[in-house]
Amino acid sequence: MSVNIKAKISAVGHYLPEYVLTNKELEAMVDTDDEWIRTRTGISERRILKDPGKASAYMAAEAAREILNELDLDPKEIDAIIVATVTPDYLFPATACLTQTMIGATNAFSFDLSAACSGFIYALSTGSAMISTGQCKKVLVIGSDKMSSIVDFTDRSTCILFGDAASGVLLEPSDDETGIIDHILHSSGEGAEALIQKGGGSINPASHETVDKKMHYIYQEGRPVFKRATEGMADVAVEIMKKNKLSADDVDWLVPHQANLRIIDATARRMDITTEKVMINIDKYGNTTAATIPLCLYDWRGRLNKGDNLVLSAFGGGYTWGATYVKWSL
Ligand code: UT7
Repeated sequence: MSVNIKAKISAVGHYLPEYVLTNKELEAMVDTDDEWIRTRTGISERRILKDPGKASAYMAAEAAREILNELDLDPKEIDAIIVATVTPDYLFPATACLTQTMIGATNAFSFDLSAACSGFIYALSTGSAMISTGQCKKVLVIGSDKMSSIVDFTDRSTCILFGDAASGVLLEPSDDETGIIDHILHSSGEGAEALIQKGGGSINPASHETVDKKMHYIYQEGRPVFKRATEGMADVAVEIMKKNKLSADDVDWLVPHQANLRIIDATARRMDITTEKVMINIDKYGNTTAATIPLCLYDWRGRLNKGDNLVLSAFGGGYTWGATYVKWSL
């Protein structure tokens, strides 16, 4: 097996549910207001997947179909599918297997990856390693989260934050200097209790009691997570810049996980880069967990030039955090 083939992003796809849940609508559901949400988080609205019977696998399949259509690619040519998600359709089978069958990628092998808001960065690293070894030539890496399925819409501290979406990329071998250049990944279980879905897994299997105690919903201690996320996302972005000898001028774009505008601003300040170089769409979609970073790539794809230096950076539950250095290939 050959080694060190560089992976490149050869297409980006996305799926956004139609329903727009505005801050105004949330004002009628919980004790909150538009002004608080916008100043504390940067969020104005988010998308919610309302169709019964549709969830993360469906959204991932729609994002994948967009990629296949753009490249006029036969789904049978896909070697592997990785779906990063914390809202799998089922605990098992893997969401990625369902997505695989929905798109007809009959020659692929598929699996899910659980790294919460860092899921896309983790999956990108995994997918590019599969290209690097020569094991695969075409890997779909998709972040898909139906966060509304685990949000308590009576809890004002979390229900304002999250939205539903899927977005992803196709990875292929690069034949020039562009592609995925470097990754840094970190994790630590010390934050497990601060950001968690307590019920439904093997330690607290679903029961009347877990449902009564609302353990199937997201639990988050906002302030400590905010502090660690601000440090973690900025530290790892600066770490990857130093490791690759990138100055602030060398960085064309910061592609940050969209959890809170204040965390994104702090990361940009630590990197010493100006706001014009930062991809921000949290106002429109909120925190879509594993989908935020590829959704930014999708929204900005028309403004990116071949050879642009992108620093992707994320922090999330686990804790997990990491950064990727990409030289844009399209
Ligand atoms: O993506 C994965 C990682 N997750 C994150 O990065 C999220 C990190 N955390 C955050 O983004 C922020 O902590 C939040 C947006 C969740 C909260 O913002 P905050 O500035 O940390 O607010 P806080 O939790 O310190 O609460 C301040 C006040 C509290 O009232 P008192 O105790 O000061 O009277 C809250 O009860 O704001 C209150 N509050 C609200 N008020 C209106 C909390 N949620 C709301 C709300 N509307 N929706």
